[in-house]
Amino acid sequence: MSAIKRRTNGSGGGQKGCRAMALISVANDCLNPLSKIVDQTLLSYRENQLNLDLECHRWPEMDDQCQQWIIQLTEDNMKTYYDESSNGWSRSNKLKEFRHKTSRHLVLRCADTRRLIAFVHFRFEVGGTDSESAVYCYELQVVASHQRLGIGRYLMSCLYAIGRAFNMHKVMLTVFKHNTIAMDFYAKTLKYRIDRSSPSRCQMNADYEILCLTVDKKGPQIDK
Ligand SMILES: CC(C)(COP(=O)(O)OP(=O)(O)OC[C@H]1O[C@@H](n2cnc3c(N)ncnc32)[C@H](O)[C@@H]1OP(=O)(O)O)[C@@H](O)C(=O)NCCC(=O)NCCS
Repeated sequence: MSAIKRRTNGSGGGQKGCRAMALISVANDCLNPLSKIVDQTLLSYRENQLNLDLECHRWPEMDDQCQQWIIQLTEDNMKTYYDESSNGWSRSNKLKEFRHKTSRHLVLRCADTRRLIAFVHFRFEVGGTDSESAVYCYELQVVASHQRLGIGRYLMSCLYAIGRAFNMHKVMLTVFKHNTIAMDFYAKTLKYRIDRSSPSRCQMNADYEILCLTVDKKGPQIDK
């Protein structure tokens, strides 16, 4: 889900804050973040008899068909969760998020048929505090027919690799508490933890959590 309600707690600015802003600026200036990933095998997904290619685009670079598919898949997968939330669903608000000038979109499509299969909307942003830089995952959507085939896990490992390539501190995301499949996917399968900027860590009531995974700059590359 989106990260629109997210707030940083403002602590830890100063020199560290300047460094974080500098890292974010470098990342935002990069034309193709995928070109910085060290492990080039991450640029395609060849598991479970799938043959999928990964692309990265800004919104205006995508054709109308791809843009329409992104908004429709998000509505198909997420509308019921938004309807149950305090905000409700707004297609026009979601479109605004996708069109934001720093938005990037990882798009996964079938190498043979070019069919669109999954996408991630992400941005380089300040993290839970002003001294942290983050790859913020605004959206992860897999078409229903291709869920449970390892694609979500793979795309999150691509985001992690992007975070590492640009020296980001964390990968972060917002998830509805009532989206229990996604909550378990991030927290139990991928070992994301509740970020200190999440409402539940700030004595606030909300129907969402902010989760994070620290990017280990020295450890081994994440497996597909
Ligand atoms: C949540 C979502 C992104 C997961 O992607 P995916 O490609 O289906 O997940 P993966 O195949 O990579 O699953 C990895 C593991 O997560 C867990 N998992 C994923 N989906 C699950 C489900 N529906 N039920 C139970 N466990 C699930 C399992 O442990 C799975 O491993 P396994 O299949 O070997 O048991 C995908 O289901 C989706 O697009 N859902 C709708 C949109 C959504 O909720 N997006 C997240 C918004 S924040």
